[in-house]
Amino acid sequence: MAHDEHHSHHHGHAHGHAHGHAHTQAPGGRDWAAFGARLEREGELVRPVHDELIADICAALGDRAVRRVLDLGSGPGVATTLLAERFPQAHATAVDASEPLLALAAERAARVGVADRVDTAVVDLEQPLGTLAAAGAADVVWASMVLHHVASLPATLAEIRGVLAPGGVLALVEFGDERRALPEHAVPERPGFVERHADVTRELLAAHLPAGALEIDWPSALVAAGLEVVTHRRVVMERPAPLDAGERAFAKHSLEMAAHVGLHRFDDLDLLTLARLLDDDHPMSVMRRDDLPLRITRTIAVARRP
Ligand SMILES: C[S@@+](CC[C@H](N)C(=O)[O-])C[C@H]1O[C@@H](n2cnc3c(N)ncnc32)[C@H](O)[C@@H]1O
Repeated sequence: MAHDEHHSHHHGHAHGHAHGHAHTQAPGGRDWAAFGARLEREGELVRPVHDELIADICAALGDRAVRRVLDLGSGPGVATTLLAERFPQAHATAVDASEPLLALAAERAARVGVADRVDTAVVDLEQPLGTLAAAGAADVVWASMVLHHVASLPATLAEIRGVLAPGGVLALVEFGDERRALPEHAVPERPGFVERHADVTRELLAAHLPAGALEIDWPSALVAAGLEVVTHRRVVMERPAPLDAGERAFAKHSLEMAAHVGLHRFDDLDLLTLARLLDDDHPMSVMRRDDLPLRITRTIAVARRP
């Protein structure tokens, strides 16, 4: 597949990807940059998850001052700016392979009023990360929903360990054990639909991510990289019906991926259900019906460099 031309002037260099997509492409093949607004909305929606992880970070660090924060795979910088706000003595760097998303992160930092302590770095996380520590080793490295994308997790985790100060922590947000954003019986008119849809989504993700990316044993991977696991837990975020506009958009997007590429996997009635859920003009659509709740499952972990 053709490489994105932008890569040639990035830190590091474009290279082959065993799993067959460039690192500026999201699962499904579209450019990450196309997801800017959506990633920003979703980042705001999962704020309770981020708050929990920040509480875990603070507990792990005790009274250690936080001066350097790296947000790896920051996208539009929702967590970067949150971290800058929560750690007022810190300088935070939004790190991503996508320049357009980093431009959004810079805009957000200005909007939130932390631009003086936030900068951005165009970096491919599959390359050496040493330059990120040039201004000082990191007290906190944050990586949300990005490490499942890297071709060699051990190599990237070793690089992350290298940019962490001794006693500094890596904070992870990753997939939970559920692939669906809706509770099991959220679509009562079509029993089993949510689970069947989740199965298709899982297959699609698996096909677009590096092998094994959905089954990573995070504690083992962190320990193998020479980090001490401080906390590792599953968090479930539930939003009751009726959903607000942002929650509806999240639910809709979680259903859409399968609609783009997995249609052949559904039977006729499931296809009809999916079409109605996604048709904003239909009374049964995600954007209109008032009986749909939302459920997001994530794994969060904090690991310390000894
Ligand atoms: C699912 S988004 C997560 C964004 C944000 N951290 C969040 O939790 O909402 C994945 C992000 O990782 C970035 N990314 C994927 N592979 C990357 C790589 N090899 N190097 C740098 N960034 C990468 C994408 O550009 C995208 O912004």
